[in-house]
Amino acid sequence: MILPPKIPLFEVLRNLPQMASQPIDVFTGYIEKYGRNFILKIGASRLTHFTVDAELIRHVLQRNNRNYEKSEIQTTQLARFLGKGLLTNSGKDWLKQRRLIQPGFHRQRLETLTQEMQGVINQQCEKLNAAATGGQAISLHEFTRGAVFRIIVRAIFTDGFTEEESRELNEAIDAIQHYVIYPVRMPFLRAPLRWLGKEAKYQAISQEIHQKVLQRIQERRKGLPKDDLLQMLLDSRYEDNGEPMNDEQIADEIKILFAAGHETSANALAWTIWLLLRHPPELDKVRSELAAAAASGPIDFAGVRRLPYTTQVIEESMRLYPPAWITDRVALADDHAAGFDIARGTVVGIFFQGLHRSPEYWQNPDQFLPQRMSPEAKKERHPFAFLPFGGGPRLCIGNHFAMLEMLLVLASVLGKYDFELPPNADAIGNRANITLGMDRELLVKVKHRVGSQG
Ligand code: HEM
Repeated sequence: MILPPKIPLFEVLRNLPQMASQPIDVFTGYIEKYGRNFILKIGASRLTHFTVDAELIRHVLQRNNRNYEKSEIQTTQLARFLGKGLLTNSGKDWLKQRRLIQPGFHRQRLETLTQEMQGVINQQCEKLNAAATGGQAISLHEFTRGAVFRIIVRAIFTDGFTEEESRELNEAIDAIQHYVIYPVRMPFLRAPLRWLGKEAKYQAISQEIHQKVLQRIQERRKGLPKDDLLQMLLDSRYEDNGEPMNDEQIADEIKILFAAGHETSANALAWTIWLLLRHPPELDKVRSELAAAAASGPIDFAGVRRLPYTTQVIEESMRLYPPAWITDRVALADDHAAGFDIARGTVVGIFFQGLHRSPEYWQNPDQFLPQRMSPEAKKERHPFAFLPFGGGPRLCIGNHFAMLEMLLVLASVLGKYDFELPPNADAIGNRANITLGMDRELLVKVKHRVGSQG
């Protein structure tokens, strides 16, 4: 068997405390010392082959994807609270659901959703207006999170949740996402968390969300059809038997879309704005592009195509800070890839963040250089060196949705407002939960931009 180097037990134990709070630093250290592939085994957990090797990643996610399934962290742990939806499903069931849901994210559907998205953004910008008028600071992440959560809620339910309901729903889903990670990182906490009643508490929150969503679905069935994602889910039929999805399944899919579709985009937007504020020439370039694009028509579904540089900025931000910083797959049968044997049952840990900063694929990997996302530069690179939305058949279903909403938010926000970073802004580090966020709250002072009509 040809296997990558195994991290010695003493080193694993020494790094255990840091692993809980800064897993990215620990993995990066292992890559520097042991190379692009290494094996880690913690306690009784399964053997994990971590990799930042684009060829091996292509093999697992695409070429031989049928031999790999998501691990129980995603299919069981996450599903216990969020239900069995696309992200947490696997095998035949997943494929069946994916085929059914995919059309909801096609161009035409996104085009009809653009106006809804813009409506939400305009509403959220009222908060920036108030802060700018009052000379106050706002939490950047709270703003981006609030905006994209309301966008996904509105895209699914155009007949909507009230502001108050949306806020409660957002908090409940975030609380669950933050809780889920504990027992995954520290399996020995599983029993104590149960004894302390935490497990029951989060199960109850999860049930509450489920009931709320279910109620909305049932109301819609009795009411008039709308032009939104819920309607698409209600109207779709399975290929084999022509049956619709049942309400429980629709509720599960919706919870998954809520969860998968907001923390990721919110983090990407917050990192992008933070990076731009620290790189004034790039910010100027974005603003010039936005002004030119706005001068030749509305920045809507078609209009965002006039923002190629801003698109590159978002991509470069997701290279440095990929919101989905890691994923995993389990080998169903023995396999061989990129010079290594992968035995049945091995977990392959695909460390996107490390891949995106690997000197193998990127010059000056820690620098923010949006030009490396130009179409010409992309052609020169390994197609699996940049995977913010994953790759292969389980590619993020919301990738175009996410790019569209992020471009619309940036276009609305950067044109009208100036933001002032606090003195500690350079020291911001990352916090790797399910998604990759900032390690502290970033309070930015908001001002109206001279010449804009705020
Ligand atoms: C910047 C924003 C986003 C990022 C970086 C992101 C990233 C990802 C990645 C890397 C995967 C693949 C995970 C894997 O292969 O293990 C994924 C899957 C998924 N994402 Fe996203 N995502 C984003 C936004 C969204 C949005 C807006 C939605 C929904 C509206 C969404 C829904 C999903 C779903 C349902 C899956 C599972 C797909 C499947 O397995 O068939 N994501 N996302």
